[in-house]
Amino acid sequence: MSNMRTLTVDTRARSYPIYVGAGLFKRLPDLLEEAGWDSGRPLMLVTDDRVGPLYADQVQRVLTDHGYRVGSVSVPATEQSKTLSQLEELTTACIQAGMDRSGGILALGGGVVGDLAGFLAASYMRGISFIQLPTTLLAHDSSVGGKVGVNHPLGKNMIGAFHQPSMVVFDVETLNTLPARQVSSGYAEVVKHAWIGDADFVSWLEENRDGLTNLDPDLTTEAILRGCAVKAKVVSQDEEEAGLRAILNYGHTIGHALEAAAGYGTYTHGEAVAVGMVGETMLGEELGLCAPLADRMEALLQAFGLPTRLRADVRDAELLELMRRDKKAQQGAFTFALPREVGRVERVTGVPEGPLQRTLDRLRGDSG
Ligand SMILES: NC(=O)c1ccc[n+]([C@@H]2O[C@H](COP(=O)([O-])OP(=O)(O)OC[C@H]3O[C@@H](n4cnc5c(N)ncnc54)[C@H](O)[C@@H]3O)[C@@H](O)[C@H]2O)c1
Ligand SMILES: [Zn+2]
Repeated sequence: MSNMRTLTVDTRARSYPIYVGAGLFKRLPDLLEEAGWDSGRPLMLVTDDRVGPLYADQVQRVLTDHGYRVGSVSVPATEQSKTLSQLEELTTACIQAGMDRSGGILALGGGVVGDLAGFLAASYMRGISFIQLPTTLLAHDSSVGGKVGVNHPLGKNMIGAFHQPSMVVFDVETLNTLPARQVSSGYAEVVKHAWIGDADFVSWLEENRDGLTNLDPDLTTEAILRGCAVKAKVVSQDEEEAGLRAILNYGHTIGHALEAAAGYGTYTHGEAVAVGMVGETMLGEELGLCAPLADRMEALLQAFGLPTRLRADVRDAELLELMRRDKKAQQGAFTFALPREVGRVERVTGVPEGPLQRTLDRLRGDSG
């Protein structure tokens, strides 16, 4: 229970703390009290059917022991839970539990629960408070930025809102039960945040890779905090997504195309982004924007157990077509976030197909 670390995220709507450390769920009543949440405010815990059996009891018990009234509701542990019909079911649960505008939603789980429960909080009675209790490494990403929402059959995250949490309590002990593949995938976004905004953080990840992959609590805490700090800095400078926020898309233009081309579920999001980051670093080199950096990027991602090359069965034509349809492509030319140096990425528009094709060729080769 030792070293809790705190990062304060400032947004126009509010500023809120992100607490990170081992054993923090035990301290939830203190943290709530400090924030002025008295036990008269009803709470609704939203989780999924994998995380719930592991941690919901612990969270509920520690709060009810301190006099809080905590309802709970669980959704299937799958991306398919991010739907309007699931939102309606959760709303029903809140109404039946007598949740009023003073109430708060506790989102216990990964990004799926965070997005869904966050959107429940954004829409229930026109908006109530919510607290994120992330249990995946990837959720360090979704805990900053205030984006909440659900999917539509015609597109991911098509229905949503900006709704900032009141606080984020990240108990890194929960990561010990996270499947290894999910741990690696989360590290892909940690590496992304380092690479786009903090060169020292990249070196630190390289130095501490063994402890990080073994989920050493102090190192993981530091990695989460620094990742959140980069994202918070980018988001605070660009709350309306005018431009700067596009650098958060580093690795995602190729990554999103790869996720779709390989068939959803073949690569996890983080794995596809890992391949995408190597590709987009190669593209930066190809365009003469940066010194050779792709080998360094690749070695770092491999250290976290991530793939860095395209699978043979993913076709270039399909990737290019998907990238062309990407909402960021304009008039046949492509837009990317590309590296200038480690820790600095820029939005580059008008990238022609030639260099992109050469990049895909290279991304198919054997890693060095
Ligand atoms: N709002 C944002 O800014 C933002 C940013 C990035 C991603 N997202 C969203 O996040 C979602 C992906 O999030 P994710 O990768 O966390 O996936 P997830 O929430 O689906 O969790 C992955 C799997 O791990 C299980 N799990 C979670 N924590 C666990 C634990 N501690 N122990 C054992 N099992 C555990 C879950 O039940 C699930 O099966 C996507 O829907 C994506 O759109 C949102
Ligand atoms: Zn991502």
